[in-house]
Amino acid sequence: MGFEILLSVLLIASYHLQYGNGRMILTMKDFISNSNSTNVDHSQAFQNAWRALCGGKGGSASFVIQAHETYTIQPQLLEGPCMPRNIHIQIDGTIEAPKMANDWGRNKLDCWLCFEKVTGLVLTGSGVLNTHGESWWSSVALQSRPVAVRFFGCQNILYNGLTQINSPRNHITILDSNNATLSNLHLIAPASSPNTDGIDISHSQNINIMSSTIKTGDDCVAIKRNSYNINVTYVTCGPGHGISIGSLGEGGASEVVQNVNVRHCTFTGTQNGARIKTWPGGQGFVKNILYEDITLINANFPIIIDQQYRDNAGQYKQSAGATAVKVSDVTFRSFTGTCAAPIAIKLDCDPNTGCDNIVMEQINIASSSPKTPLTSYCKFAHVVSRFVSIPITCSFHTEDSQPASLNPQPSAPYAISPTTPHTQPHAPTTQPPLFFRFYTNFKAFLGRLGRNC
Ligand SMILES: *[C@@H]1O[C@H](CO)[C@@H](O)[C@H](O)[C@H]1NC(C)=O
Ligand SMILES: *[C@@H]1O[C@H](CO)[C@@H](O)[C@H](O)[C@H]1NC(C)=O
Ligand SMILES: *[C@@H]1O[C@H](CO)[C@@H](O)[C@H](O)[C@H]1NC(C)=O
Repeated sequence: MGFEILLSVLLIASYHLQYGNGRMILTMKDFISNSNSTNVDHSQAFQNAWRALCGGKGGSASFVIQAHETYTIQPQLLEGPCMPRNIHIQIDGTIEAPKMANDWGRNKLDCWLCFEKVTGLVLTGSGVLNTHGESWWSSVALQSRPVAVRFFGCQNILYNGLTQINSPRNHITILDSNNATLSNLHLIAPASSPNTDGIDISHSQNINIMSSTIKTGDDCVAIKRNSYNINVTYVTCGPGHGISIGSLGEGGASEVVQNVNVRHCTFTGTQNGARIKTWPGGQGFVKNILYEDITLINANFPIIIDQQYRDNAGQYKQSAGATAVKVSDVTFRSFTGTCAAPIAIKLDCDPNTGCDNIVMEQINIASSSPKTPLTSYCKFAHVVSRFVSIPITCSFHTEDSQPASLNPQPSAPYAISPTTPHTQPHAPTTQPPLFFRFYTNFKAFLGRLGRNC
């Protein structure tokens, strides 16, 4: 009897040694047959590690790449569904793609780390994924360039802490996926690198992007077709093209994006800030969008809705009576900082479809250069504005294609609490004298206090 107890204690102890508290912990070394070279391709070892993780019988499994380790791997399909409820990959070292596009082999995947149909993945660590996109940007056409990390048909994903450098195309694509949290990521590529979006989301829902730095050559985040319930919080963007909804409706497609909150984000030297872009001729809608607590540092077009978007103007021909993707219920609230270009607010909407219930509150944007006054451009948008530092006069005429006001003159007080939000364009909201501004802000502040207490 005593012997049996001793035996089981020993068994449990050895189990814990090998599997660390019920977890199977693997390293690359477990899958490398000869470790005589530092510069070999570790694709097979990585794929074998994935198979062991994904096929493992325990409740969860871990794979660890330590800080001093560097591996080069070819594109990998990391396919589920997997046996364990959770798969944990910790990368504190570096994983690289081959340095030259030509050396990516014949494995024709359109991504480098391609997670498919995986549920419960935790991808974390302080390490680096370097895709060496610099060898692709000038030599390979966009359509043939792979994205760095793709989650396709995945669920319950946590992706945290890693740095991704120089993707050939998007750094991260989330496609057909549900429930993902991405946090503390650093996505880095030069401002001039083509189409190197930070994070692209399509056909996905319940996605949380938090506390990340994105410095790339295209959209920091792009929320595309048929995506909803997306939060982007504490993201620093720039260089980059902004945090965008769209583009949507290209080639006449019917596409929907709704329930997006972008909050506590900073745009530094970006081409755009809060941006919605839809193609003429498209269908579907964009709705329930909030951009709030946004800091601007020399950002161009800090607020922009472009319902006439075309990224290759030469190929686009507008047909008479064309449709557009409907844009409504969009709130821009609490923007502060500086704008580098003369047009701080651009609402370029479709004459037939228009943009409805566009709410602007507490927008306080100053020009980066004292010599360039800021203006707005507004066509076919129904705007409700309160405490907006730039006058918005919306035009509802097709022939008038000039910016609404080129030389704003301080004249009228703020338009406070408009009573007819869904109807006609509102009177210009221009800067009142300083004392009045202080007074109205103070009154509003008192009002808020009253409501909260
Ligand atoms: C080192 O690795 C290479 C490539 O895998 C192999 O061809 C070679 O035989 C190995 N040499 C030794 C001494 O193990
Ligand atoms: C979303 O995913 C996280 C991480 O795997 C998980 O803890 C959470 O329970 C999931 N939420 C839902 C509603 O499934
Ligand atoms: C997004 O934020 C809203 C408001 O804070 C919250 O109700 C919602 O659950 C969040 N959605 C996700 C996917 O985290």
